[in-house]
Amino acid sequence: MYRAKIAGAGHYVPGNVVTNFDLEKLMDTSDAWIRERTGIQERRFVPDGENNVDMAEKAAIQALEHAGKKAEDIEFIIFATLSPDHFFPGSGCVLQQRLGIPGVGALDVRNQCSGFIYALSVADQFIKTGMYKNILVVGSEIQSRGLDLTTRGRDMAVLFGDGAGAAVVDRCDDPARGIITTHLHADGRHVKELWCEDPGSQKNPRLTHAMLDSTTIFPYMNGKYVFKYAVTKFPEVIEEALHAAGIDKNELDLVIPHQANMRITDAVRARLELPEDKVYSNIHKYGNTTAASIPIALSEAIATGRIKEKSLVCLAAFGSGFTWASALLRL
Ligand SMILES: CC(C)(COP(=O)(O)OP(=O)(O)OC[C@H]1O[C@@H](n2cnc3c(N)ncnc32)[C@H](O)[C@@H]1OP(=O)(O)O)[C@@H](O)C(=O)NCCC(=O)NCCS
Repeated sequence: MYRAKIAGAGHYVPGNVVTNFDLEKLMDTSDAWIRERTGIQERRFVPDGENNVDMAEKAAIQALEHAGKKAEDIEFIIFATLSPDHFFPGSGCVLQQRLGIPGVGALDVRNQCSGFIYALSVADQFIKTGMYKNILVVGSEIQSRGLDLTTRGRDMAVLFGDGAGAAVVDRCDDPARGIITTHLHADGRHVKELWCEDPGSQKNPRLTHAMLDSTTIFPYMNGKYVFKYAVTKFPEVIEEALHAAGIDKNELDLVIPHQANMRITDAVRARLELPEDKVYSNIHKYGNTTAASIPIALSEAIATGRIKEKSLVCLAAFGSGFTWASALLRL
C-alpha cells in the first residue's frame, strides 16, 4: 500500500462582498440576528458571468502551483459540488477541459457539505492502491443563485456564500506525512430535513411553471433539527478518526470543521474541550460555502502559516443527507 498526502492547496472567492447590511436591504433581517445566530458578517456572491467551474479552475490552478505541479501531472479529477453549472455532464469534465488534460478521468461527488472529505477519501484510496499518483480534488459552490433572497427565504438565505477550494493529493514516500485515516457516514432517513426538492426527475416534467412560483425550488432546512445532529455528529466523527489512529486530541495542531455556523463550531470545540486556537474558523468572512468550505479553510490555514508541513490536522464535516465525515492527516 502506498501513502497519499496533500501536496498543495488553493482557493478562490469572488470579489463581490455581500454584508449582513446588504441583506437587510433585501429582506427583513438584521446584522445583529445573523451575527448572534451564526457568526457570519459577510459572504461572497458571484457576479453575473462568473460560474461554478470558473471558480474551481482558479482554485485548482493555485493548488497546482502550490504543489509545484503542472496540470499534465494530474491523472484524475474529483469534483465535489451540490450547485453545478449544469445538470449534466459532471463539473469534473468541464474542469478537465479547462485545464487542458483530455482523457484524464473525472468524477463528480454529490455529498453536500461533506463532499470535499468524501472526495479526499476517494483520492486517498486510489493513491493507496497504486492506481494514481496525482489527483486533483475540488470543492466549488454557487449558493447565491439558488437562494430565496426575500423575507420568505431568510432563514436559509443569510447562511450561505459562494467560493471554491482545491487540493492536489499525491503519492507520498515520507512516513511522517500523509492522510492517516478517513471516515464517511450517511443517514438517508434525514434527507428531507435539509434538501432542495425541485427541480428533479421525481417530477414529470422535471421543472414546471408551478414550481417557479412555489418554494420547492429553494433549499429547505429544519434548522433546529440540523443543529442538534450537527453538534453530535461532528465530535463523534472526529473522535472516530482519533481513535482509529490511536492519537490523542491534544496532539492535534488544528481541527478544520466544515464552516456551517459559528455556534455549531463553538459547541463542537466545547464538547471536545479544545482551545479556541485549535479550531479553524472563517465563517465570519464567507458564510457556509458547502463543499468548498473545508478546502478554502485548509488553503487559508496553510497560506497564513497556521499549519505547515507535518502539522497534524483533522478535517470534519456534517451536512445534507445527512452525511458526515472526517479525515486525519499530517500535512
Ligand atoms: C438557522 C439557525 C441559525 C436558526 O436559529 P434558531 O435559533 O433555530 O432560530 P429559529 O429558526 O427558531 O427562528 C427564530 C426566529 O427568527 C426568525 N428568523 C429566521 N431567520 C431569520 C433571519 N434571517 N433574520 C431574522 N429573523 C429570522 C424566525 O422566523 C423566528 O421567528 P419567530 O420566533 O417569530 O417564529 C439555527 O437553527 C442553525 O444554526 N441551524 C443549523 C444551520 C446549519 O448550520 N445548517 C447547515 C448545516 S451544513
